[in-house]
Amino acid sequence: MDVLRTELSPESVDLVYLDPPFNSDRQYNVIFREDQQPAAQARAFHDSWRWGPEAAVWYEEGMNYGGRIAETLVGLRRFLNQSNLMAYLAMLAPRLIELRRVLRPDGSLVLHCDPTAGHYVKILLDAIFGPENFRNELVWCYRGGGVPRNAFARKHDTLFWYAKSSNAPFFPQYEPYSAASQQLVRSRGGVSIDGRQRDLERGAHMTDWWSDINSLQTWSPERLGYPTQKPRALLERVIKALSREGSTVLDPFCGCGTTVAAAEALNRNWVGIDIAVIAISVIERMLQDDFGLRVHINGIPADFESARALARRDPFQFEAWAVSKITHLRPNKTQVGDRGVDGVGWFNVTSDSPSKIVAQVKGGQVGPAAVRDLLGTMQAEHADLGVLIVMDRITPHMAAAAASAGVYSGDGTMFARPIPRIQIASVHDHFDGRHPVLPPMLRIRPRAVGGGNPEP
Ligand SMILES: C[S@@+](CC[C@H](N)C(=O)[O-])C[C@H]1O[C@@H](n2cnc3c(N)ncnc32)[C@H](O)[C@@H]1O
Repeated sequence: MDVLRTELSPESVDLVYLDPPFNSDRQYNVIFREDQQPAAQARAFHDSWRWGPEAAVWYEEGMNYGGRIAETLVGLRRFLNQSNLMAYLAMLAPRLIELRRVLRPDGSLVLHCDPTAGHYVKILLDAIFGPENFRNELVWCYRGGGVPRNAFARKHDTLFWYAKSSNAPFFPQYEPYSAASQQLVRSRGGVSIDGRQRDLERGAHMTDWWSDINSLQTWSPERLGYPTQKPRALLERVIKALSREGSTVLDPFCGCGTTVAAAEALNRNWVGIDIAVIAISVIERMLQDDFGLRVHINGIPADFESARALARRDPFQFEAWAVSKITHLRPNKTQVGDRGVDGVGWFNVTSDSPSKIVAQVKGGQVGPAAVRDLLGTMQAEHADLGVLIVMDRITPHMAAAAASAGVYSGDGTMFARPIPRIQIASVHDHFDGRHPVLPPMLRIRPRAVGGGNPEP
């Protein structure tokens, strides 16, 4: 919100896509529950939306805009009380108003949500953009993941497209006709059964439900290890249909940068905002890997002092940032505090049993005990290599403890030189350009380890 309000000029953006977090894995009735834990106590990514002092402030901000939006908020609150869902809507309302402000007069906004709260979000969007500016409810269908026992499998998300005015551009997209239709139309000299001319080369005008783009599976090469990552093809379709080359696309909840990547690939300017340092850090790496772009992004530690400040302010984000600095290690999603595994990666991936590497991050002062701790974790995790990431300089005692863990040579043919089983990387080393020597690693979890099942 701060970035939106302070850094973006009015009418400067052509297309907004947003995919705000909503923990819809929880039972549907939980979103109606009144839950007083302040949002600030919950981790930003997992559970931003709880009724509390913060949500109450956003609600008042929304009310200050007056008019239709204030009336809508009052009505919703009368029905939803101080529930998690009301907190979500209260926080969303002023953001959507700001997003409308930064849109050009012929701009469009696409909000990605799911059936958990989509019907309420649409009421907000009607209030802010006007029902006359609603263009499409796009239904993105996918497969994979679990199924409930007592209902049909929930396998679609909803994207609401609103335009700021009737001048918003639209570039139709086309999909191939079915094989049967193609055959029929060919046999009738290019005319379908209803007598209309069909352009088989171009395909059919795309409908508002899409089932040809699947959600990202564990083994998708595109996966960056960021939860809730959306497929790039989905964003490419939205961007191609609703914006021109050279225009500007904004994603204010950009996660690992799917919109950024799609916009970059399609020659649009882009702005991405995310509250999580790890998200921005992953985008920095993705831009370099996929587009050869070296960028420095605001909010990412740029030197030792800012890294230390991050470690003090938010140890979780510091851990995630530190892990992301080591190529293809990914933060361990189940991490708790400073214990256990903070990062994980795989190498030797062509063999039947890929080898594992684990990382632990220590933000405070540490000694040789931290190295022994990592060795214990490696044994418990059946990991062949370990990296200890520390804030301060590495002491000779720590280096000696790491050296005594020996080296890893694989089957003897894999590496030019044996690799130390434990390496210590310090934040100082990182900013001095010294990095651990690791084998080439996979960007994703290999199928052999994941058992081939998509992550839930
Ligand atoms: C559902 S994810 C977006 C995923 C994204 N579409 C992608 O493909 O990677 C939602 C994102 O919103 C971010 N977020 C949560 N609260 C935020 C806030 N107040 N401001 C900016 N970003 C926020 C989270 O860190 C998370 O990355």
